[in-house]
Amino acid sequence: MTLAAFPAGVSLVASGAATPACSVSNDQLSLWLDTSDDWIRSRTGIGARRIAGPGESLTALAAAAGRQALERAGWDPASVDLVLLATSTPDDLFGSAPQVQALVGATGAVAFDLTAACSGFLFGLVTASQYLRCGAAQRVLLIGADQLSRWLDWQDRSTCVLFGDGAGALALEACPAIEDGLLGFRLASDGRRSDCLRLPQRDGRQELQPGISPQEGGFSPLQMNGQEVYKFAVREVPAVLKALLAETGTEAAAIDWLLLHQANQRILDAVAERLGLPAERVLSNLAAYGNTSAATIPLMLHEAVSDGRVRPGQLIASSGFGAGLSWGAALMRWRGPATA
Ligand code: ACO
Repeated sequence: MTLAAFPAGVSLVASGAATPACSVSNDQLSLWLDTSDDWIRSRTGIGARRIAGPGESLTALAAAAGRQALERAGWDPASVDLVLLATSTPDDLFGSAPQVQALVGATGAVAFDLTAACSGFLFGLVTASQYLRCGAAQRVLLIGADQLSRWLDWQDRSTCVLFGDGAGALALEACPAIEDGLLGFRLASDGRRSDCLRLPQRDGRQELQPGISPQEGGFSPLQMNGQEVYKFAVREVPAVLKALLAETGTEAAAIDWLLLHQANQRILDAVAERLGLPAERVLSNLAAYGNTSAATIPLMLHEAVSDGRVRPGQLIASSGFGAGLSWGAALMRWRGPATA
């Protein structure tokens, strides 16, 4: 990576997505859990989720999504300067981004992971934008991917029904400042509230010798205080979005699409109501995928770009929120691939 000497804007060029083949409906969950389609749907809007099967590793899903974004952008993979993988569930604790880099053929890029749970994609977007603005990168492949299915207690109906696996990607490019597609952002975290949502280390040690007992690696399943997370989301997400709109001088009425982390339909509805946005402007694919953590925002964006809802020039207000606790918002303008 070399440093070019000009400040730049950030273009949102192309999207990609990949999800596992296996879709599990609420009714299927009720085969082994004391739950029902009605309970899950009415409280969350979720109807099904994808679960990665053999051969569908986090790395493979992330690479498939990344490859599609590169194809749609029309880029030579070797022209990418940075591959940023937002994930909390890497295949390798040392980081999965370099493997993704290799799979997509981004041979000239530097690649690394970024961990911020369900805020990961948004935090990644802001991180990527800094590389682009300062000239350290011309082209970035940003991927949000998670495979939470391997870190859930599938007997715990209060958590496992909410989550699924998936990956989404965004090709970002430096552009003249006047064409900037990232109009503003705000990020926040509060570790004092981290207990609400955790995927903590298991507490095991092996005694090698008296006084020498290294910890054994491994994680406990995801733990969540659902009501606290819900209250956090409906308080912080409208607040951060309103602050961002005020800061950028944007009227809520000017927003074409509200693109929130897909955690729960009730959270989406509550945020839209507090911003005074009608339901038609709220993007949601919770019914099909549930909460795919760092993947929800790019997965949803890709779907809406692909079916023509999101069009070049449209304004998107986005917010990610989740474990950390962490949250943030970004105001973006979709550009799409350059037309010849
Ligand atoms: N099926 C049937 N019953 C259930 C289920 C289920 N899947 N899960 C819980 N219940 C039961 C509970 O046991 C409880 O029963 P009880 O009254 O006999 O004790 C009852 O339903 C009510 O439980 P609550 O937890 O109070 O249910 P609530 O209405 O709060 O809904 C929910 C739970 C959907 C999880 C809600 O709190 C929520 O959506 N919170 C936000 C969670 C979230 O979005 N997390 C992801 C954040 S993003 C990230 O970073 C991962």
